[in-house]
Amino acid sequence: MQKAWFYEEYGSKEVLQFGNLPIPTPQHNQLLVQVCAAALNPIDVKRRQRPIFPSDFPVVPGCDMAGVVVAKGSGITKFNVGDEVYGNIQDFNAEGKLKQLGTLAEFIVVEENLAARKPKNLSFEEAASLPLALQTAIEGFTTAGFKEGQSIFIVGGAGGVGTLVVQLAKLVYGASYVVATTSTPKVDFVKSLGADRVVDYRKVKYEEIEERFDFLYDTIGDCKNSFVVAKDDAPIVDITWPISHPRAMYSSLTVTGDNLEKLRSYLETGKLKAVIDPSGPYDFKDVIEAFRHLETGRALGKVVISTFPSSYLPIPLPVPFEDKNDLCP
Ligand SMILES: NC(=O)c1ccc[n+]([C@@H]2O[C@H](COP(=O)([O-])OP(=O)(O)OC[C@H]3O[C@@H](n4cnc5c(N)ncnc54)[C@H](OP(=O)(O)O)[C@@H]3O)[C@@H](O)[C@H]2O)c1
Repeated sequence: MQKAWFYEEYGSKEVLQFGNLPIPTPQHNQLLVQVCAAALNPIDVKRRQRPIFPSDFPVVPGCDMAGVVVAKGSGITKFNVGDEVYGNIQDFNAEGKLKQLGTLAEFIVVEENLAARKPKNLSFEEAASLPLALQTAIEGFTTAGFKEGQSIFIVGGAGGVGTLVVQLAKLVYGASYVVATTSTPKVDFVKSLGADRVVDYRKVKYEEIEERFDFLYDTIGDCKNSFVVAKDDAPIVDITWPISHPRAMYSSLTVTGDNLEKLRSYLETGKLKAVIDPSGPYDFKDVIEAFRHLETGRALGKVVISTFPSSYLPIPLPVPFEDKNDLCP
């Protein structure tokens, strides 16, 4: 058995239980990964509150992970036991159910194509903070058909997704001019991520902004108000559902390790940085506290969980396993 967080009914964070669950067995094309760090996302909260995706109980929350491959199913070509990997494991089967239990567990199985090799310069915590938010951030630019040299207005530059959108705008997509919104205490930080101008939304209304932008990227679902800063023909992307303006296009992430691999050079050169909320990383035993912080809606970057309970090892693993059962540093 392994230690995991799970719930057996929908509700507030108090439905979360800490206990024992079986270690999953990797099937064809799957890796068994010992999780060293995980990150929370708003979808983990929404899924826990109501049945957004059909799931069988118990549900283990968590999409993002970084860890070490400890066993492989058949057909694995890209990874070996001992490899450090990261990824978003949120994937669905033909019935529309999530294929795997989540990442707030000591061990997870993940399809090989959803994992990517962890950039060596990143800690497990930094790597775990990236996958879902980075996949989402990238997709918004694709949805908009963004072109080099265009200007961008980002609503919500300080969240898990927003901190990456701000960084990607110039670094990867060649934006000519980047403006982002946030609240007073976070203005300097968002500027440090590469924004030319940061609008303090507590002091300035959208209507007071005189410039008009080639792309409006709204990460918080405020398009019904923010649309005024977009040029008449500019794409407006909303990553929240339901979209809040008729001109807005909903953008949803593509879950694959490939889009993480494509950004490897930006991560390895330190140009693209993981942003971990300063209240964390949270210890594995403090997952409820970590959810409490995420649910304030004020997180700066990503809420990360680390220090998984490797002291519970050694654990009898279900498949042939090289003697590497305590790999998290
Ligand atoms: N479509 C998809 O595929 C997809 C994927 C990921 C996430 N999402 C959704 O996208 C949304 C954002 O996700 P996330 O992970 O970035 O959330 P998050 O990290 O929880 O976002 C928190 C941030 O939102 C900012 N914020 C709140 N109200 C704001 C306002 N009025 N103006 C500007 N900033 C504001 C906060 O900054 P201040 O403290 O400065 O207000 C805080 O830093 C969620 O609804 C999530 O479910 C969708």
